[in-house]
Amino acid sequence: MASYYFLLFVLVAASAISEADAKKKLSKDFYCSSCPELLSIVNQGVINAIKKETRIGASLLRLHFHDCFVNGCDASILLDDTSSFIGEKTAAANNNSARGFNVIDDIKANVEKACPGVVSCADILTLAARDSVVHLGGPSWNVGLGRRDSITASRSDANNSIPAPFLNLSALKTNFANQGLSAKDLVALSGAHTIGLARCVQFRAHIYNDSNVDSLFRKSLQNKCPRSGNDNVLEPLDHQTPTHFDNLYFKNLLAKKALLHSDQELFNGSSTDNLVRKYATDNAKFFKAFAKGMVKMSSIKPLTGSNGQIRTNCRKIN
Ligand code: HEM
Ligand SMILES: *[C@@H]1O[C@H](CO)[C@@H](O)[C@H](O)[C@H]1NC(C)=O
Ligand SMILES: *[C@@H]1O[C@H](CO)[C@@H](O)[C@H](O)[C@H]1NC(C)=O
Ligand SMILES: *[C@@H]1O[C@H](CO)[C@@H](O)[C@H](O)[C@H]1NC(C)=O
Ligand SMILES: *[C@@H]1O[C@H](CO)[C@@H](O)[C@H](O)[C@H]1NC(C)=O
Ligand SMILES: *[C@@H]1O[C@H](CO)[C@@H](O)[C@H](O)[C@H]1NC(C)=O
Repeated sequence: MASYYFLLFVLVAASAISEADAKKKLSKDFYCSSCPELLSIVNQGVINAIKKETRIGASLLRLHFHDCFVNGCDASILLDDTSSFIGEKTAAANNNSARGFNVIDDIKANVEKACPGVVSCADILTLAARDSVVHLGGPSWNVGLGRRDSITASRSDANNSIPAPFLNLSALKTNFANQGLSAKDLVALSGAHTIGLARCVQFRAHIYNDSNVDSLFRKSLQNKCPRSGNDNVLEPLDHQTPTHFDNLYFKNLLAKKALLHSDQELFNGSSTDNLVRKYATDNAKFFKAFAKGMVKMSSIKPLTGSNGQIRTNCRKIN
């Protein structure tokens, strides 16, 4: 018995050390001397991309989320499928949906010119997500750097780990808890749906079958998204200001005007209602909780030290 407890102690202590280690290794100054231009190159790349297409800011933010939820923020989502390798791009949540890969390629090419072989794709994606939020009017935060890139990817892990829009609140909470994220993080980070678009196929069940939908809102969406067909028709996640990062997403939930079932689940008569009310009333509290949640999400299981590699091309391992 005593030796069992001793072993347990060693295991718990070891995992606590490795977690602290990973967090310590992420530092905002990681590339200060090895790539001083990094932050301005990424920022300029994001500005140029948003100038071309406003939606891309939303797409980059989601790309980072879908990277982090599948075995950590390790750029695994950026790996292309090949004849001998199946990656995450064709996983259920990403196929015909995840976008922004070319923007990351362009930024990576510029970073490689300035400081070859030094900066990971995972760090570039993390910075691009932050810069996207900032340029669309959202909060800013310090990004810890020093992630390395995976040499693997997993479609089945992507299928299982990225939350689906038909989940109920308890399943959403469990999904986030599996990543070390709280119910508060779930609500705040869902506020990312203040920007960007979703396809008819993702919200059809919500606008035809859920009771908790404003009737005029339901009618106008049903006109655009019929019971069958038009699967790829796009609608804004925040119907009021889809290219501006603000707290109107939460006001929409109070008015039963969420586009996704998973969004309305956050305000549907249970434990997260009060957080939704709080963020709908107080934009500053939302921004603060969102920034905090992003720092947590961006720190999920990074590869550091000599683990993984610094990919030359984000789409393939070296
Ligand atoms: C809470 C669970 C979540 C679910 C079930 C969910 C689900 C979805 C779905 C179904 C779409 C539309 C995809 C399509 O139609 O192709 C979407 C879009 C989006 N999601 Fe989420 N999401 C969740 C959380 C998050 C989080 C945590 C973030 C970021 C922090 C995020 C950021 C976005 C953004 C920005 C878009 C729009 C992307 C674009 O326009 O390209 N989502 N989400
Ligand atoms: C991904 O989408 C393409 C194009 O719609 C489709 O042909 C393919 O079967 C999909 N792949 C998976 C794994 O669902
Ligand atoms: C993941 O989901 C895709 C699309 O739904 C499906 O075609 C594929 O079989 C699944 N793959 C794995 C490995 O779970
Ligand atoms: C939520 O969904 C899970 C999985 O589908 C199910 O087991 C559970 O009963 C549901 N919970 C509620 C409160 O509806
Ligand atoms: C709505 O629910 C019914 C009954 O469960 C189901 O047959 C139908 O496919 C659902 N409709 C949509 C659009 O998901
Ligand atoms: C909200 O609660 C109702 C009643 O319990 C339930 O039917 C519905 O599926 C829930 N979710 C949404 C998004 O309406």
